[in-house]
Formats: sequence, C-alpha cells, structure tokens
Amino acid sequence: FGDRSLAGLKVVVSAGPTFEDIDPVRFIGNRSSGKMGFAVAAAAVQAGAEVTLVAGPVGLATPVGVARRIDVRSAAQMHAAVLQAAVQADIYIGAAAVGDYRPQEVSAQKLKKRDGGDLVLRLGENPDILASLSAQTTHPFLVGFAAETHDVAAYAQDKLQRKGLDMIAANQVGDGLGFEAADNALTLYWAGGAVELPRAAKSELARRLVAHVAERYRAMRG
Ligand code: PMT
Repeated sequence: FGDRSLAGLKVVVSAGPTFEDIDPVRFIGNRSSGKMGFAVAAAAVQAGAEVTLVAGPVGLATPVGVARRIDVRSAAQMHAAVLQAAVQADIYIGAAAVGDYRPQEVSAQKLKKRDGGDLVLRLGENPDILASLSAQTTHPFLVGFAAETHDVAAYAQDKLQRKGLDMIAANQVGDGLGFEAADNALTLYWAGGAVELPRAAKSELARRLVAHVAERYRAMRG
C-alpha cells in the first residue's frame, strides 16, 4: 500500500520525550508519548523508505518494517544518535519533544528533603539537534515539528528560519490535541508555501505529512 514516494531513500525519525536525570530516581521530562513520531516512522516505511527510528523513553512497539530502532533517554543521547544516523540519511524528521535544558549536575545519590528550605536546580541548555544538522555543510532534508500553545504560525515560521529547516509541522497543543492524544492537527510551512492538515488520527496525519515531505524533497533535491 501507499504511494512508494520515498522508495530508495533513507529516513531518520525521532520520537518521544527526553528525560533529564536529577538523581537516581528523579528526572525532568515532558508529556510526549511518541505516538506522532512512531506514526511518522510507520508512514515512511509504507512510502518505501529505509527508516531509522530514534526513540526517547516510550512504551510503544516498533512499527513493522522499521529497519533500525535506537532507544535513548536524554537529549544529549538523542543528539548523538541522530547525528550519527543522519550521516547516511536523505531526510530527518524531528518529531521528538527534546528537553531544552538539563540539570547541570546529576546527583549520584538520591537528594534528601530539606525541611523548610527551597531546593534550587541549575539547568544548562541542551544542544539543538536540528540546528546542529543544518549547520553541517551537507545534511539531510530537515523537517522539524513545533509544539505551541499560542501564536502557532508566527513561532513555527520563526523556527523554520532560525533552525535552517526545509519544512516545519506546527501543532497547536492543548484541547485534546498534540501531546499524548490519538488525534492531532498540523499546519506545514516551507519557504514560500503552507498547507493545513486538519484534525485526524496521528496515523492518517503522518501519511499526509510524509506525502508532502516526499513532494518537497523531490522538488528540492530531485
Ligand atoms: O509524542 P506525542 O504524544 O504523539 O506528541 C506529539 C508531539 C506534540 C510531541 C509532536 O507532534 C511535536 O510537536 N513534537 C515537537 C515538540 C517540541 O518539543 O517542539 P519544540 O518547539 O520544542 O522544538 C521544535 C523542533 O526542534 C522539534 O522538531 C524538536 O525535535 C527540535 N529540537 C528541539 C530541541 C532540541 N534540543 N533539539 C531539537 O532538534
């Protein structure tokens, strides 16, 4: 099934959250379930691509036909895994919700409660996977996601330019869409174009997204 629009191409997809450890039992994470990224990986397989799936900590089975799955936990691990896989790739689709910050120090022992006093965590910035890729002289066709609660179009277009992307898929999160939900709605932006993909199951949206990615990829890279 599918249109085989990605036949012969290698695609790397990131999915899920990252967890940034504070101590052996605590971490900073986010609400990404991995459903959107896993659906994108499945749709890329159906379109004929050889797919590498880099997954944060999620409880999802690997979609049938995915060539390689690399499980990671932190943003730094996801950064390393994606950059290594991207060397061989034609297209990278970043659906993961990567933590922007991590605790500067990870305590080797469980932090104890300090009665009456505040606990202050210093956070350091994580490297940006998409920005690292776009800074390389040769890199895959880059597709980012933008999860926003407000001003979706403006923030998404800013990320498209700032991160040097070929396309960005913006989702308004909240109201039963986006994180964790079965459904989503996306607006795709690229230089000089946009298309709305109205609310649908993530599997269906992923198929439509992949069809647009294939069309733009062929238009730009032949
Ligand atoms: O996993 P689900 O529960 O199905 O939810 C799906 C989703 C809402 C997580 C997904 O559709 C989505 O929007 N993913 C991106 C979420 C996000 O964190 O967006 P952002 O605006 O923080 O980041 C923008 C882009 O930069 C993303 O492509 C992200 O992968 C990338 N990024 C961010 C930080 C970083 N250090 N490196 C990156 O490459």
